[in-house]
Amino acid sequence: MAKPKQVFYCVECGNETIKWQGRCPACGAWNSIVEHAERPARDSKSGGGSAPPGGAPKAPVRISELDGEDERRISTGIGELDRVLGGGAVEGSLILIGGAPGIGKSTLLLQFCGRLSKRKKILYVSGEESARQLKLRARRLGAEDGELYILGETSLGNILSAAEESRPDVLIIDSIQTVCNEGLDASPGSVVQVKDCTLAFMRLAKDTGITIFIVGHINKEGAIAGPKVLEHMVDCVLYFEGDGGGGYRIVRAAKNRFGSTNEIGVFEMGGGGLKEVPNPSEALLSGRPAGAAGSCICCVMEGARPILAEIQALIAPTSFNVPRRNSNGLDYNRAMLLLAVLEKRGGLKLSASDAYINVVGGLQVDEPAADLAAILAIASSVTDRPVDARLAAIGEVGLTGELRSVTSLEQRLAEAARLGFSACIIPRGNRNKYAAPQGLKIIEASNISEALSYSIGAYRK
Ligand code: TYD
Ligand code: MG
Repeated sequence: MAKPKQVFYCVECGNETIKWQGRCPACGAWNSIVEHAERPARDSKSGGGSAPPGGAPKAPVRISELDGEDERRISTGIGELDRVLGGGAVEGSLILIGGAPGIGKSTLLLQFCGRLSKRKKILYVSGEESARQLKLRARRLGAEDGELYILGETSLGNILSAAEESRPDVLIIDSIQTVCNEGLDASPGSVVQVKDCTLAFMRLAKDTGITIFIVGHINKEGAIAGPKVLEHMVDCVLYFEGDGGGGYRIVRAAKNRFGSTNEIGVFEMGGGGLKEVPNPSEALLSGRPAGAAGSCICCVMEGARPILAEIQALIAPTSFNVPRRNSNGLDYNRAMLLLAVLEKRGGLKLSASDAYINVVGGLQVDEPAADLAAILAIASSVTDRPVDARLAAIGEVGLTGELRSVTSLEQRLAEAARLGFSACIIPRGNRNKYAAPQGLKIIEASNISEALSYSIGAYRK
């Protein structure tokens, strides 16, 4: 008789090994590898620890014969959130909201409960805050009325039966890392638990048509499993980004089975919770110092939306052996590359200077189209000549100092014109045709030297 296969796996990260080891080679946890006859959360046939058996085999159906009714969507009552979801949450879908602790996930969900509870029945399951804490917060956010039910529970079985009994339209799980299936011998927040519980909620959403929002904390230390391990299981993944301080909070769709991932929602945290910022460019540009050196405006595409952002640079002679370099909002390696290009191709001496680069408003700019604005901001700081406040710069910078084409140029130019800019530097011969908006002077430059001589005039070679 064939010997049954032994399975060893790590209860922390789910990694499989062929033999027992003291330390998991994947996640580095000590004493976390166990032998298991039946692996509850990883068994693809049963589809999870609490999965029912597969059932009768199904026959394939021709696609044209399938029911093609449009999905029904629930408007969350928060315009920016609806936009990211692709026009509201699809009924019966599972939506994961990830983000660092304290970024505002619970706040956003409670606010949305406040708007929605007048039309829909909502069950808010919180394993993190007591019902009293939630009540106090809901009062501050004006979310006290309507069909909003609170349940302080962490047991998966109890949550599922509460949801099946009360049949809400929307179920909120805050957070998935606190939910625990007692049938598994893994601690709450471990990959095995988090995956198994999410699978159970997925099944609940598909069987009952309840729309489920799951909160997942991103945690840097890796002690609890993050939302990344769940991305493939859910219908929609939204990430909350921002610097956590007074800056803007951006909700970005990383995956959406019912819409595009091209949209972002911008919020601002204040005394009354999160406030929508329907016009981010205007907000990001407000309070800009007039005539100060070391600042330039770029236009980046956040999904389908053009956003104007200010890039600032501070270049000062260093008092260290090795100059200090710091970049906030712009990728560090990209910033170092731009400094090197400016030194070699722009003829500015930077190797003995400290360089600090910052994108205002906590925005994360990861598009090469912002290169030129960063270069101009740095050069402006070195030469102490301000870039005209009504000039924007768009273009990718190559290693030989050349300016390269960018996508969606027309939308970017239109946004600059809308916000009252009078001129914009763009790469010469941008490969996409564009129509210049009225009132915006277009300056074509083929390399950074041309762009520099236009924006900050004659500079030290
Ligand atoms: P929270 O929504 O609990 O974050 P998460 O659920 O993502 O862990 O809290 C977000 C932070 O926002 C919290 O530290 C306090 C702050 N905050 C405000 O500034 N104003 C408010 O009205 C609320 C409710 C929270
Ligand atoms: Mg919370």
